[in-house]
Amino acid sequence: MGPRLRGDNRRFGMSPRHFVDLWKLDAVTLRAIMDDAHARKKARAGWPKGKVDADAPCRDKTLALIFEKNSTRTRFSFDAAMRQLGGSSVIANAGDMQLGRGEEVPDTARVLSRMVDAVMIRANKHEDVQVFAEAASVPVINGLTDASHPCQLMADLMTYEEHRGSLKGRTLAWVGDGNNMCASFIHAAAKFGYTLNIATPSAYAPDRVDLARAAEEKARINLTNDPREAAAGADLILADTWVSMGDTDYDARMKALEPYQVNAALMALAAKDAVFMHCLPAHRGEEVTEEVLDGPASLVWNEAENRIHAQKSVIAWCLAG
Ligand code: CP
Ligand code: NVA
Repeated sequence: MGPRLRGDNRRFGMSPRHFVDLWKLDAVTLRAIMDDAHARKKARAGWPKGKVDADAPCRDKTLALIFEKNSTRTRFSFDAAMRQLGGSSVIANAGDMQLGRGEEVPDTARVLSRMVDAVMIRANKHEDVQVFAEAASVPVINGLTDASHPCQLMADLMTYEEHRGSLKGRTLAWVGDGNNMCASFIHAAAKFGYTLNIATPSAYAPDRVDLARAAEEKARINLTNDPREAAAGADLILADTWVSMGDTDYDARMKALEPYQVNAALMALAAKDAVFMHCLPAHRGEEVTEEVLDGPASLVWNEAENRIHAQKSVIAWCLAG
């Protein structure tokens, strides 16, 4: 990655609507995006997947999708979302681009800003997305980094609201690694008004900067090493892989995280009508048992589908700026 350089957007005094981290967006904006997602999904109930929404808010718009890491859901849901919004997308693996041969991130941002209307990036390093956004003159959407996964959060929170109503005053329990997904749940806690219980081994605790910021925002976050304490009475139990893309300490993680499996015994401690979510891909028998993942409390397939619906409203918001 090259030096931080001033981007076209700065030079012309314009500020595109980036969707890089939830903590940077205010609660009213996030609520508006979420309400739009619910409304758009309802309005097209029963329609063929490829049919364009009646208002086609992204007609004549193009979204670039850049992947530096593997993806199934993010890749297909962004493409499907853009089609439903009436626009089109161009997908590339970063390794196939000149980025893979060392072209600087800001230069790539400037070039793509002349060719497309918005860019989604899945990157190894969060800083690369920030640098890209600084140099771009079009909106930039974070499609997952080592530090956060805000689009997945929008889909997850939308799914909870669909099945159980408002998140205000609810208790969510994160069990496992204090990773990028956990970070985004921390970022959204104050915005959506839920309490977040987090159970991790000390070696895999959440990022301190995220926790400090959340404390400033008066988010209700409780940390523990005990998964049972986190799950007790919770309305939503959350799990993710113990080994994220880019993690290299596989054996240490498997050992430290073994007591953090979400299984029927843990689910039994949660509220009576508690639900289970996982951003996927899942590893049955590791972070979650087959019984829970494929059981009646699991919303994982709805959650995966909602990647399309939630992201449509993220893209539409970015492009309406
Ligand atoms: N949940 C998620 O982002 O899935 P992919 O890695 O398949 O995109
Ligand atoms: N924490 C996981 C999420 C995958 C969608 C990872 O970063 O690999």
